[in-house]
Amino acid sequence: AIERTFSIIKPDAVAKNHIGAIYSRFESAGLKIIASKMVHLTKEQAEGFYAEHSERPFFGALVSFMTSGPIMVQVLEGENAVLANREIMGATNPAQAARGTLRADYADSIDENAVHGSDALASAEREIAYFFAADEICPRTR
Ligand code: CMP
Repeated sequence: AIERTFSIIKPDAVAKNHIGAIYSRFESAGLKIIASKMVHLTKEQAEGFYAEHSERPFFGALVSFMTSGPIMVQVLEGENAVLANREIMGATNPAQAARGTLRADYADSIDENAVHGSDALASAEREIAYFFAADEICPRTR
């Protein structure tokens, strides 16, 4: 089925000028970018987005990293988009990410791992709504 998923290019990959290379991977895989913007998260925004991890030992480092510089946030649309994007990204820990995945190619560590993608359709809906108003999403008509 055609799905929408939510994606972040994290501060490490933005700082290293990998935005275009990462967008190219999405487009080459048939995922359409139907919403996109650059934002520099406040501490409150980062804590809210990652609220489900608030009790994890890495939460402080995660919020600190995600507010360390601008990020790109985007909505990707396509067949099986949630799983397709997870395959493009590779494992959360780049040391375990398959060859040719974004994390294998662009991430340095589990903490600075280049990209985020929704893990399920329900989280995709919540994460899209966290960053985008309905009128900022532009489904393709051609
Ligand atoms: P992300 O998909 O953005 O969701 C939470 C982030 O926490 C994750 O990617 C990792 O970058 C980071 N993180 C750090 N340590 C861990 C861990 N042990 N397990 C999962 N995520 C971790």
